[in-house]
Amino acid sequence: MASSLTFLCETTLKNAFPSRSFAFPSGSHEAQRLSFGFHGVALRRAKAEVKWRSSREVRAVENSSWAGSADTDINNLFDAPVLSNTEVAERLRTYQEQNQSNQHYMAMFSSIFGGITTDPAAMVIPMDDHMVHRGHGVFDTAAIMDGHLYELDQHLDRLLRSASMAKIGLPFDRSTIRNILINTVSASKCTRGSLRYWLSVGPGDFQLSSSGCAKPALYAIVIEGRSLPDQKGVRVITSSIPMKSPEFAIMKNVNYLPNALSKMEAEENGAFAGIWLDNEGYVAEGPNMNVAFVTADKELMMPHFDKILSGCTAKRVLVLAEKLISEGMIDGIRLGNVSVEQGKMADEMMLIGSGIIVKPVLQWDKHIIGDGKEGPVAKALFDLIVEDMQSGPASVRVPVPY
Ligand SMILES: Cc1ncc(COP(=O)(O)O)c(C=O)c1O
Repeated sequence: MASSLTFLCETTLKNAFPSRSFAFPSGSHEAQRLSFGFHGVALRRAKAEVKWRSSREVRAVENSSWAGSADTDINNLFDAPVLSNTEVAERLRTYQEQNQSNQHYMAMFSSIFGGITTDPAAMVIPMDDHMVHRGHGVFDTAAIMDGHLYELDQHLDRLLRSASMAKIGLPFDRSTIRNILINTVSASKCTRGSLRYWLSVGPGDFQLSSSGCAKPALYAIVIEGRSLPDQKGVRVITSSIPMKSPEFAIMKNVNYLPNALSKMEAEENGAFAGIWLDNEGYVAEGPNMNVAFVTADKELMMPHFDKILSGCTAKRVLVLAEKLISEGMIDGIRLGNVSVEQGKMADEMMLIGSGIIVKPVLQWDKHIIGDGKEGPVAKALFDLIVEDMQSGPASVRVPVPY
Protein backbone atom coordinates (compact mmCIF):
# COMPACT_ATOMS: atom_id res chain seq x y z
CA MET A 1 0.00 0.00 0.00
CA ALA A 2 1.49 3.33 -0.97
CA SER A 3 1.23 6.63 0.81
CA SER A 4 -0.24 8.17 -2.32
CA LEU A 5 -3.86 8.50 -1.19
CA THR A 6 -3.05 10.56 1.86
CA PHE A 7 -0.58 12.44 -0.21
CA LEU A 8 -3.18 13.27 -2.86
CA CYS A 9 -5.81 14.42 -0.42
CA GLU A 10 -3.24 16.64 1.18
CA THR A 11 -2.20 17.84 -2.23
CA THR A 12 -5.66 18.75 -3.28
CA LEU A 13 -6.37 20.73 -0.16
CA LYS A 14 -2.99 22.35 -0.13
CA ASN A 15 -3.57 23.45 -3.70
CA ALA A 16 -7.02 24.63 -2.88
CA PHE A 17 -6.14 26.81 0.09
CA PRO A 18 -4.41 29.68 -1.70
CA SER A 19 -7.73 30.59 -3.39
CA ARG A 20 -6.55 29.03 -6.61
CA SER A 21 -8.74 27.10 -9.00
CA PHE A 22 -7.54 24.11 -10.91
CA ALA A 23 -9.17 21.41 -12.94
CA PHE A 24 -8.90 17.73 -12.11
CA PRO A 25 -8.39 15.53 -15.12
CA SER A 26 -11.56 13.58 -15.73
CA GLY A 27 -11.08 9.86 -15.87
CA SER A 28 -12.90 6.62 -16.38
CA HIS A 29 -13.55 6.33 -12.66
CA GLU A 30 -15.58 9.51 -12.55
CA ALA A 31 -18.66 7.63 -11.47
CA GLN A 32 -16.97 5.81 -8.62
CA ARG A 33 -16.42 8.68 -6.26
CA LEU A 34 -16.05 8.28 -2.60
CA SER A 35 -17.66 10.87 -0.44
CA PHE A 36 -16.47 11.29 3.06
CA GLY A 37 -16.18 14.02 5.61
CA PHE A 38 -12.83 14.82 7.05
CA HIS A 39 -12.81 14.58 10.78
CA GLY A 40 -9.12 15.34 11.15
CA VAL A 41 -8.17 17.94 13.69
CA ALA A 42 -5.90 19.69 11.24
CA LEU A 43 -8.63 20.09 8.69
CA ARG A 44 -11.29 21.20 11.07
CA ARG A 45 -8.87 23.82 12.34
CA ALA A 46 -8.14 25.05 8.83
CA LYS A 47 -9.90 28.27 8.03
CA ALA A 48 -10.98 27.25 4.57
CA GLU A 49 -13.91 25.69 2.90
CA VAL A 50 -13.64 23.47 -0.13
CA LYS A 51 -16.53 23.49 -2.57
CA TRP A 52 -16.96 21.32 -5.62
CA ARG A 53 -18.05 23.13 -8.73
CA SER A 54 -20.02 21.61 -11.57
CA SER A 55 -17.05 22.23 -13.86
CA ARG A 56 -15.07 19.76 -11.72
CA GLU A 57 -13.00 22.56 -10.31
CA VAL A 58 -12.27 23.05 -6.71
CA ARG A 59 -11.96 26.44 -5.15
CA ALA A 60 -10.84 27.50 -1.75
CA VAL A 61 -12.84 30.20 -0.07
CA GLU A 62 -11.64 31.98 3.02
CA ASN A 63 -14.16 31.16 5.71
CA SER A 64 -13.51 31.55 9.38
CA SER A 65 -16.69 29.65 10.27
CA TRP A 66 -15.16 26.32 9.17
CA ALA A 67 -13.91 25.48 12.62
CA GLY A 68 -17.36 25.79 14.13
CA SER A 69 -19.36 23.95 11.48
CA ALA A 70 -20.99 20.64 12.31
CA ASP A 71 -19.46 17.41 11.05
CA THR A 72 -22.54 16.78 8.95
CA ASP A 73 -22.33 20.13 7.22
CA ILE A 74 -22.42 19.51 3.47
CA ASN A 75 -19.46 21.84 3.06
CA ASN A 76 -17.40 19.48 5.17
CA LEU A 77 -17.73 16.76 2.58
CA PHE A 78 -14.83 16.10 0.30
CA ASP A 79 -15.29 13.98 -2.77
CA ALA A 80 -12.31 11.77 -3.44
CA PRO A 81 -12.31 10.10 -6.83
CA VAL A 82 -11.11 6.52 -7.08
CA LEU A 83 -8.15 6.69 -9.43
CA SER A 84 -6.46 4.29 -11.78
CA ASN A 85 -2.71 3.74 -11.51
CA THR A 86 -2.21 5.96 -14.54
CA GLU A 87 -4.28 8.75 -13.02
CA VAL A 88 -2.35 8.53 -9.76
CA ALA A 89 0.91 8.76 -11.70
CA GLU A 90 -0.42 11.75 -13.67
CA ARG A 91 -1.51 13.51 -10.51
CA LEU A 92 1.77 12.86 -8.76
CA ARG A 93 3.51 14.45 -11.74
CA THR A 94 1.11 17.42 -11.74
CA TYR A 95 1.70 17.84 -8.02
CA GLN A 96 5.45 17.89 -8.54
CA GLU A 97 5.16 20.43 -11.35
CA GLN A 98 2.79 22.71 -9.44
CA ASN A 99 4.64 22.52 -6.16
CA GLN A 100 8.25 22.89 -7.23
CA SER A 101 10.12 23.58 -4.04
CA ASN A 102 13.55 25.12 -3.98
CA GLN A 103 14.87 21.59 -3.50
CA HIS A 104 15.81 19.58 -6.54
CA TYR A 105 15.43 15.85 -6.01
CA MET A 106 17.80 14.33 -8.53
CA ALA A 107 17.56 10.59 -7.86
CA MET A 108 16.06 8.14 -5.38
CA PHE A 109 16.89 4.55 -4.57
CA SER A 110 14.30 2.32 -2.97
CA SER A 111 14.82 -1.30 -2.02
CA ILE A 112 11.04 -1.66 -2.48
CA PHE A 113 11.31 -1.21 -6.22
CA GLY A 114 14.89 -2.41 -6.18
CA GLY A 115 16.38 0.40 -8.22
CA ILE A 116 16.88 4.10 -8.82
CA THR A 117 14.45 6.63 -10.25
CA THR A 118 15.24 10.15 -11.39
CA ASP A 119 11.54 11.06 -11.64
CA PRO A 120 10.58 13.06 -8.51
CA ALA A 121 6.95 11.99 -8.95
CA ALA A 122 7.96 8.37 -8.37
CA MET A 123 9.94 9.13 -5.19
CA VAL A 124 7.37 7.69 -2.78
CA ILE A 125 7.56 5.14 0.03
CA PRO A 126 4.96 2.64 1.27
CA MET A 127 2.55 3.97 3.86
CA ASP A 128 2.63 0.72 5.85
CA ASP A 129 6.39 1.03 6.33
CA HIS A 130 6.86 1.14 10.10
CA MET A 131 9.18 4.11 9.65
CA VAL A 132 6.16 6.11 8.43
CA HIS A 133 3.62 5.30 11.12
CA ARG A 134 5.77 4.18 14.08
CA GLY A 135 9.02 6.03 13.55
CA HIS A 136 10.95 2.77 13.37
CA GLY A 137 13.75 3.95 11.13
CA VAL A 138 17.19 5.54 11.24
CA PHE A 139 18.83 7.93 8.83
CA ASP A 140 21.96 9.81 7.93
CA THR A 141 23.37 12.16 5.31
CA ALA A 142 26.58 12.87 3.45
CA ALA A 143 27.54 16.01 1.57
CA ILE A 144 28.34 15.79 -2.15
CA MET A 145 31.21 18.13 -2.92
CA ASP A 146 32.72 18.45 -6.39
CA GLY A 147 31.74 14.90 -7.33
CA HIS A 148 32.89 13.33 -4.05
CA LEU A 149 30.95 12.07 -1.05
CA TYR A 150 32.33 13.70 2.10
CA GLU A 151 32.80 11.40 5.12
CA LEU A 152 30.55 8.75 3.56
CA ASP A 153 32.14 5.94 5.59
CA GLN A 154 31.91 7.84 8.86
CA HIS A 155 28.21 8.60 8.27
CA LEU A 156 27.58 5.04 7.10
CA ASP A 157 29.19 3.62 10.25
CA ARG A 158 26.90 5.83 12.35
CA LEU A 159 23.86 4.72 10.31
CA LEU A 160 24.68 1.06 10.96
CA ARG A 161 25.29 1.72 14.67
CA SER A 162 21.93 3.50 14.87
CA ALA A 163 20.23 0.63 13.00
CA SER A 164 21.66 -1.89 15.41
CA MET A 165 20.48 0.12 18.45
CA ALA A 166 17.02 0.43 16.85
CA LYS A 167 16.91 -3.33 16.15
CA ILE A 168 16.72 -2.79 12.41
CA GLY A 169 18.31 -5.50 10.32
CA LEU A 170 20.18 -4.73 7.12
CA PRO A 171 18.51 -5.34 3.74
CA PHE A 172 22.03 -5.64 2.20
CA ASP A 173 25.53 -5.95 3.62
CA ARG A 174 27.56 -2.80 4.32
CA SER A 175 29.52 -2.77 1.08
CA THR A 176 26.35 -3.26 -1.01
CA ILE A 177 24.66 -0.37 0.82
CA ARG A 178 27.76 1.75 0.20
CA ASN A 179 27.72 0.85 -3.52
CA ILE A 180 24.01 1.60 -3.81
CA LEU A 181 24.56 5.04 -2.25
CA ILE A 182 27.41 5.84 -4.62
CA ASN A 183 25.43 4.53 -7.62
CA THR A 184 22.44 6.68 -6.65
CA VAL A 185 24.63 9.80 -6.65
CA SER A 186 26.15 8.70 -9.93
CA ALA A 187 22.69 8.24 -11.54
CA SER A 188 21.67 11.69 -10.28
CA LYS A 189 24.64 13.35 -12.05
CA CYS A 190 24.68 15.70 -9.07
CA THR A 191 28.16 16.97 -8.21
CA ARG A 192 27.19 19.32 -5.35
CA GLY A 193 24.42 18.75 -2.87
CA SER A 194 23.54 16.13 -0.31
CA LEU A 195 22.73 12.46 -0.09
CA ARG A 196 20.16 11.41 2.52
CA TYR A 197 19.44 7.78 3.33
CA TRP A 198 17.24 5.74 5.62
CA LEU A 199 17.19 2.23 6.95
CA SER A 200 13.72 1.20 7.97
CA VAL A 201 12.36 -1.89 9.67
CA GLY A 202 10.25 -2.03 6.50
CA PRO A 203 6.66 -2.33 5.29
CA GLY A 204 4.39 -4.95 6.77
CA ASP A 205 1.28 -3.85 8.60
CA PHE A 206 -0.01 -1.16 10.93
CA GLN A 207 0.76 -2.98 14.18
CA LEU A 208 3.03 -1.62 16.89
CA SER A 209 5.43 -4.54 16.83
CA SER A 210 7.63 -4.82 13.79
CA SER A 211 7.34 -8.61 13.82
CA GLY A 212 5.10 -8.47 10.74
CA CYS A 213 7.68 -6.55 8.72
CA ALA A 214 9.27 -9.17 6.51
CA LYS A 215 12.23 -7.24 5.17
CA PRO A 216 14.05 -4.07 6.19
CA ALA A 217 14.12 -1.30 3.60
CA LEU A 218 16.75 1.12 2.33
CA TYR A 219 15.82 4.46 0.79
CA ALA A 220 18.19 7.15 -0.46
CA ILE A 221 17.68 10.50 -2.15
CA VAL A 222 20.02 12.98 -3.79
CA ILE A 223 19.22 16.67 -3.36
CA GLU A 224 21.07 19.26 -5.42
CA GLY A 225 22.52 22.28 -3.64
CA ARG A 226 25.19 24.41 -5.20
CA SER A 227 26.13 26.90 -2.51
CA LEU A 228 28.04 26.54 0.73
CA PRO A 229 26.31 27.62 3.95
CA ASP A 230 27.04 31.22 4.95
CA GLN A 231 29.30 32.10 7.86
CA LYS A 232 27.15 34.85 9.31
CA GLY A 233 26.83 34.76 13.09
CA VAL A 234 23.48 33.85 14.64
CA ARG A 235 21.51 34.09 17.88
CA VAL A 236 20.47 30.99 19.82
CA ILE A 237 18.15 30.43 22.76
CA THR A 238 18.02 27.78 25.46
CA SER A 239 15.44 25.29 24.25
CA SER A 240 12.40 24.71 26.46
CA ILE A 241 11.52 21.54 24.52
CA PRO A 242 12.69 18.50 26.52
CA MET A 243 15.66 16.80 24.90
CA LYS A 244 15.72 13.07 24.18
CA SER A 245 17.10 10.74 26.81
CA PRO A 246 20.73 9.69 26.11
CA GLU A 247 19.66 6.27 24.79
CA PHE A 248 17.68 7.93 21.99
CA ALA A 249 19.86 11.02 21.54
CA ILE A 250 22.95 8.98 20.61
CA MET A 251 21.18 7.17 17.77
CA LYS A 252 20.05 9.01 14.66
CA ASN A 253 16.52 7.67 14.49
CA VAL A 254 13.68 9.36 12.61
CA ASN A 255 11.92 10.57 15.76
CA TYR A 256 12.89 14.20 15.30
CA LEU A 257 9.73 15.77 16.71
CA PRO A 258 11.57 17.31 19.70
CA ASN A 259 14.25 18.56 17.29
CA ALA A 260 11.69 20.06 14.90
CA LEU A 261 9.78 21.71 17.76
CA SER A 262 13.00 23.07 19.22
CA LYS A 263 13.94 24.61 15.86
CA MET A 264 10.46 26.10 15.49
CA GLU A 265 10.59 27.52 19.01
CA ALA A 266 13.88 29.20 18.10
CA GLU A 267 12.46 30.62 14.88
CA GLU A 268 9.38 31.91 16.69
CA ASN A 269 11.77 33.79 18.96
CA GLY A 270 13.84 35.22 16.12
CA ALA A 271 16.72 32.82 16.80
CA PHE A 272 18.53 30.32 14.61
CA ALA A 273 18.42 27.31 16.94
CA GLY A 274 17.64 26.14 20.44
CA ILE A 275 20.40 24.80 22.68
CA TRP A 276 19.56 21.76 24.78
CA LEU A 277 20.90 21.28 28.27
CA ASP A 278 21.29 17.72 29.57
CA ASN A 279 19.66 16.28 32.69
CA GLU A 280 22.49 17.73 34.82
CA GLY A 281 22.15 21.19 33.27
CA TYR A 282 25.28 20.99 31.11
CA VAL A 283 25.35 22.12 27.48
CA ALA A 284 24.26 19.26 25.22
CA GLU A 285 23.60 20.04 21.53
CA GLY A 286 21.32 21.81 19.08
CA PRO A 287 18.49 20.16 17.16
CA ASN A 288 20.74 19.12 14.27
CA MET A 289 24.13 20.35 15.25
CA ASN A 290 26.79 20.08 17.92
CA VAL A 291 28.05 23.01 19.97
CA ALA A 292 31.62 24.14 20.69
CA PHE A 293 33.27 27.02 22.54
CA VAL A 294 36.60 28.79 22.70
CA THR A 295 37.42 29.68 26.29
CA ALA A 296 39.23 32.81 27.51
CA ASP A 297 42.39 30.67 27.88
CA LYS A 298 42.15 29.68 24.19
CA GLU A 299 40.89 26.15 24.61
CA LEU A 300 38.48 24.62 22.09
CA MET A 301 35.85 22.97 24.29
CA MET A 302 33.07 20.57 23.30
CA PRO A 303 30.57 18.50 25.31
CA HIS A 304 31.18 14.72 25.51
CA PHE A 305 29.33 12.62 22.94
CA ASP A 306 27.93 10.23 25.55
CA LYS A 307 24.48 11.85 25.82
CA ILE A 308 24.24 13.48 22.40
CA LEU A 309 24.67 12.58 18.76
CA SER A 310 28.26 11.91 17.85
CA GLY A 311 28.50 14.49 15.06
CA CYS A 312 30.71 13.51 12.14
CA THR A 313 31.55 17.17 11.45
CA ALA A 314 32.35 17.90 15.11
CA LYS A 315 34.63 14.84 15.25
CA ARG A 316 36.42 15.97 12.10
CA VAL A 317 36.75 19.47 13.60
CA LEU A 318 38.51 17.91 16.61
CA VAL A 319 41.09 16.38 14.26
CA LEU A 320 41.57 19.41 12.01
CA ALA A 321 41.77 21.81 14.98
CA GLU A 322 45.20 20.34 15.81
CA LYS A 323 46.47 22.58 13.01
CA LEU A 324 45.20 25.63 14.90
CA ILE A 325 47.23 24.53 17.94
CA SER A 326 50.39 24.34 15.85
CA GLU A 327 49.61 27.79 14.44
CA GLY A 328 49.09 29.17 17.96
CA MET A 329 45.47 30.17 17.38
CA ILE A 330 44.28 27.87 20.18
CA ASP A 331 46.20 26.28 23.05
CA GLY A 332 44.29 23.01 23.46
CA ILE A 333 41.22 20.90 22.77
CA ARG A 334 39.00 19.52 25.52
CA LEU A 335 35.95 17.25 25.55
CA GLY A 336 33.96 17.47 28.77
CA ASN A 337 31.08 18.97 30.67
CA VAL A 338 30.41 22.59 29.75
CA SER A 339 28.26 24.57 32.16
CA VAL A 340 25.90 27.25 30.89
CA GLU A 341 27.96 29.87 32.72
CA GLN A 342 31.20 28.66 31.08
CA GLY A 343 29.47 28.64 27.70
CA LYS A 344 28.08 32.13 28.03
CA MET A 345 31.45 33.49 29.24
CA ALA A 346 33.33 31.93 26.30
CA ASP A 347 35.21 34.08 23.80
CA GLU A 348 33.55 32.19 20.95
CA MET A 349 30.61 29.86 20.60
CA MET A 350 29.79 27.93 17.43
CA LEU A 351 27.36 25.39 16.00
CA ILE A 352 28.83 22.48 14.04
CA GLY A 353 27.08 20.06 11.68
CA SER A 354 27.06 18.82 8.09
CA GLY A 355 24.26 21.21 7.14
CA ILE A 356 25.86 24.39 8.49
CA ILE A 357 29.54 23.31 8.68
CA VAL A 358 30.67 25.80 11.39
CA LYS A 359 28.38 28.69 12.33
CA PRO A 360 29.41 31.36 14.84
CA VAL A 361 26.98 32.20 17.63
CA LEU A 362 26.94 35.90 18.57
CA GLN A 363 24.24 35.82 21.23
CA TRP A 364 22.85 33.11 23.53
CA ASP A 365 19.56 34.15 25.14
CA LYS A 366 20.27 37.71 26.32
CA HIS A 367 24.00 37.15 26.60
CA ILE A 368 26.40 38.51 23.96
CA ILE A 369 29.18 36.01 23.24
CA GLY A 370 32.71 37.48 23.26
CA ASP A 371 32.74 40.81 21.46
CA GLY A 372 29.48 40.00 19.65
CA LYS A 373 31.26 39.44 16.34
CA GLU A 374 32.15 36.33 14.32
CA GLY A 375 35.34 34.96 15.87
CA PRO A 376 38.60 33.87 14.23
CA VAL A 377 38.49 30.23 15.41
CA ALA A 378 35.01 29.59 13.99
CA LYS A 379 36.15 31.08 10.69
CA ALA A 380 39.36 29.03 10.64
CA LEU A 381 37.45 25.82 11.42
CA PHE A 382 34.90 26.55 8.68
CA ASP A 383 37.74 27.05 6.18
CA LEU A 384 39.49 23.85 7.33
CA ILE A 385 36.34 21.75 6.86
CA VAL A 386 35.63 23.25 3.41
CA GLU A 387 39.24 22.62 2.39
CA ASP A 388 38.91 19.05 3.69
CA MET A 389 35.71 18.60 1.63
CA GLN A 390 37.44 19.88 -1.49
CA SER A 391 40.88 18.32 -1.18
CA GLY A 392 41.04 16.17 1.96
CA PRO A 393 42.44 12.63 2.15
CA ALA A 394 40.78 9.58 0.57
CA SER A 395 39.52 8.53 4.02
CA VAL A 396 37.01 11.43 3.91
CA ARG A 397 36.50 11.87 0.15
CA VAL A 398 34.88 9.08 -1.85
CA PRO A 399 34.91 9.78 -5.60
CA VAL A 400 31.65 9.21 -7.47
CA PRO A 401 32.11 7.59 -10.89
CA TYR A 402 29.63 9.51 -13.10
C1 LIG B 1 20.85 15.98 16.99
C2 LIG B 1 22.04 16.21 16.13
N1 LIG B 1 23.21 16.57 16.69
C3 LIG B 1 24.31 16.79 15.94
C4 LIG B 1 24.28 16.68 14.57
C5 LIG B 1 25.52 16.94 13.75
O1 LIG B 1 25.96 15.78 13.13
P1 LIG B 1 26.75 15.77 11.74
O2 LIG B 1 27.94 16.65 11.92
O3 LIG B 1 27.11 14.36 11.54
O4 LIG B 1 25.84 16.33 10.72
C6 LIG B 1 23.09 16.30 13.94
C7 LIG B 1 23.03 16.14 12.49
O5 LIG B 1 22.02 16.02 11.88
C8 LIG B 1 21.94 16.06 14.74
O6 LIG B 1 20.78 15.68 14.19
